[in-house]
Amino acid sequence: MRISRTAAAAASLAALLTLSLTACGQEARGGSRYRPAGGKGGTIGLAMPTKASERWIADGENMAEQFREAGYDTDLQYGDDKVENQIAQIENMITKGRKLLVVAAIDGSALTEVLQRAEDAGIPVISYDRLIMGTEHVDYYASFDNERVGELQARYIVDALRLGPATAAGRPYNIELFAGSPDDNNTKYFWNGAMKVLRPYVASGRLVVRSKQTRMSQATTLRWDGGTAQKRMDDLISKNYGEERVDAVLSPYDGISIGVISALKSAGYGTTSRPLPVVTGQDAELASVKSIIRGEQTQTVFKDTRKLAAQAVAMGDAVLNGRKPQVNNTKDYHNGRKTVPSFLLDPVSIDKSNTGLLVDEGYFTAGQLK
Ligand code: GAL
Repeated sequence: MRISRTAAAAASLAALLTLSLTACGQEARGGSRYRPAGGKGGTIGLAMPTKASERWIADGENMAEQFREAGYDTDLQYGDDKVENQIAQIENMITKGRKLLVVAAIDGSALTEVLQRAEDAGIPVISYDRLIMGTEHVDYYASFDNERVGELQARYIVDALRLGPATAAGRPYNIELFAGSPDDNNTKYFWNGAMKVLRPYVASGRLVVRSKQTRMSQATTLRWDGGTAQKRMDDLISKNYGEERVDAVLSPYDGISIGVISALKSAGYGTTSRPLPVVTGQDAELASVKSIIRGEQTQTVFKDTRKLAAQAVAMGDAVLNGRKPQVNNTKDYHNGRKTVPSFLLDPVSIDKSNTGLLVDEGYFTAGQLK
């Protein structure tokens, strides 16, 4: 588990609260369509998707801690990656009169009815990390720049293989492509960001996808499951790579990378004569950062869950107190019903050369990375 983040989190929360106050001033007051919130106090419902991944545990704990510091109680629930559990948990939060809901959806399109009930009860909703789709009843969105995440992964592959410009001469390299869960709105942003970089190389023949599975629908991984990715990778290797070698794998998430690497190892990769390919990832989960240090996984994308939590807490506190939260994107996140005002944080690419950043930032201790 990660180290306690109370001090760093409190500092970044204080900074964000100050920012949102100064950015919006007094003129933003009174815009809330919700019942008078009465300032501090009350309980915030936090609906998180799963405990299967360490990042969501950290997200939930960070928010609970930071909301408490801001003067609220919290009701933190995990849906065990089952849509019906999450809906029941949100229903229960509404029945219990939670003042605000912060939701990281399991299936972004499955919450329309339950969020109508939240709206009827006058409860504001913040979409956390993943955009909630197909409903007007989502007020704000806090996330990272999701397209940038995909770009960082793809750019890493291009640089690691020293491809140069897409039209430059040179030998072709084999790549296989993985995408996230088809019901997660982030998936297409990650994919589009990555493919914007990779497509010219596939078109020029410098990157070859031997499986020919180049459409997102062929590459998705339901619920981001590592075991599912492992099976697909087993299959891709056995059907498309006899004497040929996989040189790179676009993986959108550390849990998927772990599955991909297991498949590669079972197929004999990871030796001097058959080194592991470049494998990307996302979330800087401890197991993957250690794998990077060991020289297995090559890259991950660090998205500081403390900062995301601080953003959601600042947004929630503003909404509940009649202030307008600070946003920095009001055009890119349309959920099918409305463009949701968003605050997007910057993701950071991590490889063997800069895992120390995670220690410097207090995300892990040096001991954890040993
Ligand atoms: C996405 C999230 C990623 C990763 C993935 C699997 O929605 O943006 O950072 O955590 O889910 O949990």
